[in-house]
Amino acid sequence: MKIDIPAKPVSCLVVTTVLLISILSVHPACAMFQKANYDESKVPAFELPAVLKTDDGKAVQTYHQWTEVRQPEILELFRQHVYGRVPDVPFETEFEIVESDDDANPPVPGALRRQVNIKVRANGQEKVFRMLIYLPRQSDGPIPCFLSLNFDGNHAIVDDPAVLVTDSWVRNLADRGITNNRTSDSLRGIKKSRWPVEEIVRRGYGLATIYYGDIDPDYHDQFQNGVHAILDKPGEDRPDDGWGSIAAWAWGLSRALDYFETAPQIDAERIALLGHSRLGKTALWAGANDPRFAIVISNNSGCGGAALSRREFGETVARINKVFPHWFCSNFHSYGQRVNELPVDQHLLIAAIAPRPVYVASASDDRWADPRGEFLALKAASPAYALCGRDDLSETEMPPVNQSVGQQMGYHLRQGKHDVTPFDWQCFMDFADRHFQIDAGNGGEK
Ligand code: GCU
Repeated sequence: MKIDIPAKPVSCLVVTTVLLISILSVHPACAMFQKANYDESKVPAFELPAVLKTDDGKAVQTYHQWTEVRQPEILELFRQHVYGRVPDVPFETEFEIVESDDDANPPVPGALRRQVNIKVRANGQEKVFRMLIYLPRQSDGPIPCFLSLNFDGNHAIVDDPAVLVTDSWVRNLADRGITNNRTSDSLRGIKKSRWPVEEIVRRGYGLATIYYGDIDPDYHDQFQNGVHAILDKPGEDRPDDGWGSIAAWAWGLSRALDYFETAPQIDAERIALLGHSRLGKTALWAGANDPRFAIVISNNSGCGGAALSRREFGETVARINKVFPHWFCSNFHSYGQRVNELPVDQHLLIAAIAPRPVYVASASDDRWADPRGEFLALKAASPAYALCGRDDLSETEMPPVNQSVGQQMGYHLRQGKHDVTPFDWQCFMDFADRHFQIDAGNGGEK
């Protein structure tokens, strides 16, 4: 028997759906429905704000003009339009070593372990975040360190039963049994592939890490928790340039540096700041703001990090603001459909780190983060390094995959996906060796 399916209602539904999606995809408020552009020929023409010209059009020609005028101006523009401003309130910090291990048979061969509570007090309240530190057991003097925030808790970076488990909010991971925004012992070591701790200490470096959610939980709660809650002035409305979460995480990284300055075993003048993805955006902002960071490394940081926003390739300003509104200040939210009106683009964030060494790493399959846009931003930041008398990036084209290039401005495009791999670490440590004058073949001794 033949059954006739009435054609009209179905086609009506299809037409309505197609129409709705088309309307939504062009509506400015509907960045979620717009398909990401991955076609280089569709990248719009754009002009980048000049590195060596002040906002009112004056040429920047000397090192002094760079450090005294243009660099502070760039930081101020990013504060006002992108990441937001940290409230100007007095705060106190206190550091407490809550655990240390000089065990003869340590879980990480060759390493000493320290766990430090960083306590911050402001407006009569306190916030505590915990830093895990591994240091080489053998060293002749203060130790250079990598500092990096982590995504899943300090205990997730390493198989070490003594690492304390955070009780802060974490992202749920249903496949790992994390459903109530609290982590557990079962996640110990799950991210160890991203953290070659043994190799880091073997090469003479310390590694310090803090769970980013200890500083500020990564969800939009109108800034009621984390360090926002203790530093924001009680009872005051949030300004349009009020700090978002990236600024909060970056502020937390500077508190880690405050601790290093008190710790005789650590060389606070040789700290390489590293971050992956949203934490790569954070590393760039923290490194630009705080000149005490000797080296700044961004891994796959993409939109709002190392990638040029004006290319609108992969993730866009419209989309990032829609999905992660709490990362930025509210002024940034207004630039989704007028990215060319931003007084900055991300090359200026990299330039603001000059003359200190900076390294940008991309991954070939990480199109969402726009590897080419990351390379071009680094390249476009070059004039600041040249003005400061440092090596700028001489490459005019992206290097082949898995080849690290550059001196003061380093870059590589790793083959593969969005991740941090042993290859990335090897490039970062080689870069740090060069700048910290460490002889890698010599067990890390200077
Ligand atoms: C998302 C987001 C990116 C971010 C990444 C991450 O993909 O869109 O901007 O870098 O998450 O931090 O893992």
